[in-house]
Amino acid sequence: MAAAFPIQPVARFAGKSELVKRPKEFACFSYDEDHKFHLGAQSLKWYYTPDLNVDLSKGFESFVKHDDSVDEHLDSLLTTIADYEQKTSKPIDAHIVTWRGMMTKIMAAPFDDDGFEMNATLYRGSIFIEENHAYKQESRANERPWNGPIPQEVMQYWGYKFETLSTLPRPWGETSREFIESRPDHVVNNKEQYCSVVRTGIGKTILCIGGEVDAIWDDKPRTQGDPINWVELKTSAVIQNDRQANNFERKLMKFWIQSFLLGVPKIIVGFRTQDGLLVGIKEFRTMDIPLMVKGNGRPKWDGDTCVNFASGFLEWLRQTITDEGVWRIKRRPRSAEIEVFKVEEVGHGHIITDEFMNWRIKL
Ligand code: A3P
Ligand code: MG
Ligand code: MG
Repeated sequence: MAAAFPIQPVARFAGKSELVKRPKEFACFSYDEDHKFHLGAQSLKWYYTPDLNVDLSKGFESFVKHDDSVDEHLDSLLTTIADYEQKTSKPIDAHIVTWRGMMTKIMAAPFDDDGFEMNATLYRGSIFIEENHAYKQESRANERPWNGPIPQEVMQYWGYKFETLSTLPRPWGETSREFIESRPDHVVNNKEQYCSVVRTGIGKTILCIGGEVDAIWDDKPRTQGDPINWVELKTSAVIQNDRQANNFERKLMKFWIQSFLLGVPKIIVGFRTQDGLLVGIKEFRTMDIPLMVKGNGRPKWDGDTCVNFASGFLEWLRQTITDEGVWRIKRRPRSAEIEVFKVEEVGHGHIITDEFMNWRIKL
């Protein structure tokens, strides 16, 4: 069976935003510096203002880079959910379980041309959605060769370098001045991550979303579920002309969606020159971004439309994926619709791990 959800015309999603639940973290996990999985917050980082005029390319030769050619499916998220369910003795109530990155693609679709492919399966009342790793690999291989003055790998390194320059592995009060000052010389390692697992809601759909959080401002609140002062770190080119201002406004949409989905209240942007010198820092309150963009002459996106589109799509998806097998959720680049069709008649592909199934059978 094949079905399609129209993205266009997006005007039908404009207007007052559907109800959105505040995301609440109910579990977390970490990847250590070898990308080994651990339950809990061991890889959490604290924000501490970086020094300016640092070359973001510095140390590129010693970058410890995570190999993302391996398909990690939803494994870590499922292990973390299973652990939570073992503690509470009941299954989570989400209609949809996925990575934040997948929800970002869906929410951005009304104003973004990018294609995507995901795999989805219905298991015990929830739809689990993973990225279709083969598609991601293929589209990367088919990208136009980069011929800018600075290699693409180096420019990608800038983002991680900025994280290393702006964070501490312990709160400020427990960190020596030497450590803080030596940050420009620290090895950059993107294998290490802290991931928050939240329960949230968009319209009538309850979601369980897992995603990386870059840093915390102060400390986690004592009471679970209270808002957390997360910080999302981003880098962007300094804005010197209209074209760059337009680009930044587009980027702000992704920054906003990404942070909105996990309840990250603050986004800190490190502005850099064309050749990667960090020259400025600016803080944005996530909740202010949609209005800020609306105030511009010709807004390139609208936050309410993103929310209402996601709400409509998810409701439709829940009415579409109603039996077993593996489904593909697919948007071709620039396409005006999202297609959903079955790719495997039975089972759950590699989306649900044996470990998770064995646990759920006991429940
Ligand atoms: P910038 O966002 O500052 O460019 P995130 O901001 O999501 O925490 O990601 C951290 C960094 O990972 C990014 O920093 C960028 O360097 C790299 N990155 C994230 N998503 C990427 C993608 N889709 N392609 C290439 N690099 C990416
Ligand atoms: Mg990050
Ligand atoms: Mg970031």
